Amino acid sequence: MAKISKNSKIKVGVIFGGKSGEHEVSIVSAQSVMKALDRKKYQVIPIGITKDGKWITTNPVISLKSGKIKEKGAELIPDSLLKRFDVVFPVLHGSYGEDGTVQGMLEMADIAYVGAGVLGSAVAMDKVVQKQLCDQVKIPSVKYDWFLAKDWKNNKSKILKQIKGRGLKFPMFAKPANLGSSVGISKCHNHKELILGVNDAVKYDTKVIVEQGIDNAHEIEIAVLGNDNPKTSVPGEIISSNEFYDYDAKYVDGSSEEVIPAKLPNKVIKQIQVYAVEAFKVLNLSGMARIDFLVTKKGHKVYLNEANTIPGFTSISMYPKLWQASGLAYSKLLEKLIDLAIERYDEKNKLSTEYQPKEVWYR
Ligand SMILES: Nc1ncnc2c1ncn2[C@@H]1O[C@H](COP(=O)(O)OP(=O)(O)O)[C@@H](O)[C@H]1O
Ligand SMILES: [Mg+2]
Repeated sequence: MAKISKNSKIKVGVIFGGKSGEHEVSIVSAQSVMKALDRKKYQVIPIGITKDGKWITTNPVISLKSGKIKEKGAELIPDSLLKRFDVVFPVLHGSYGEDGTVQGMLEMADIAYVGAGVLGSAVAMDKVVQKQLCDQVKIPSVKYDWFLAKDWKNNKSKILKQIKGRGLKFPMFAKPANLGSSVGISKCHNHKELILGVNDAVKYDTKVIVEQGIDNAHEIEIAVLGNDNPKTSVPGEIISSNEFYDYDAKYVDGSSEEVIPAKLPNKVIKQIQVYAVEAFKVLNLSGMARIDFLVTKKGHKVYLNEANTIPGFTSISMYPKLWQASGLAYSKLLEKLIDLAIERYDEKNKLSTEYQPKEVWYR
């Protein structure tokens, strides 16, 4: 945002219209808003988005007679350099990339993009929301509790009691709700470590999750690819070089191992594949996702750990490797992802933005 000087008016951009069945309603709302903004304080800049996604500005941008955005004589907003691409592949991780924000920008720029859309990206970014949705379709995950960092800071003993009340036992994992790469994650073996672990997690997020730790579990990862009819790869196992798969074990040590395909009974693999597809669907994902599980050594009980909508994507990362082992080479995988992006874009573009009301009330 530009710096606002005391003497100048605040420039307020009002965005309205859009590629939506509620296009007309939006124009009416925007007209009210713009009318009510005090011109002594504000410089109002209308920004209309036409039904076919053009961002335009001019004054007045709305034809009062038709209640429509006036395209004639309007100035096209060079809304984004992105416009020169047919499809974008966001190879980003975490906040402002994997969480729906960039996806939202790409939607607004009217560009096809690889991977989950806004909703799927946003819900999968949050480890608590992920679990809440997966609970709905009975995908098992470990016991957990969550709370706001603010509440922790205000009353630690109340939160500790709450965690105990949930029946969680040591070891536990304290994690920021929205992050990846094991940043801010601690394995807590006792009360003291739990306090330290949560104190660390609250540095990274306003929301924290504490989970029941599964000691000595198989860490199983599986790749999902597709839109409405997603397919799964063979599962792979991570053998961490540290007590758990922390940041160092992931990126620094380089001595963690992968076993592809994971050596598990067929029945367990089937179960993991079914859960992976169910999770993909309930989380509203599309394109790709890597879904991670914890499987107990004894009894092979399967728990969902987390879904990643933009998994690591170097040619030696787990997601492409799992597909490689399933018969889909890296470059073919990329082609497939781009096809899926365009397919989803086209499908969405076919949706109607026209609604015929009984009366044309907005003229
Ligand atoms: N409930 C748990 N039980 C056992 N190990 C866990 C548990 N939660 C996390 N871990 C370990 O911590 C690692 C990182 O946790 P994860 O939730 O996958 O966070 P990130 O999004 O940072 O990858 C996992 O790969 C696993 O080794
Ligand atoms: Mg992980």
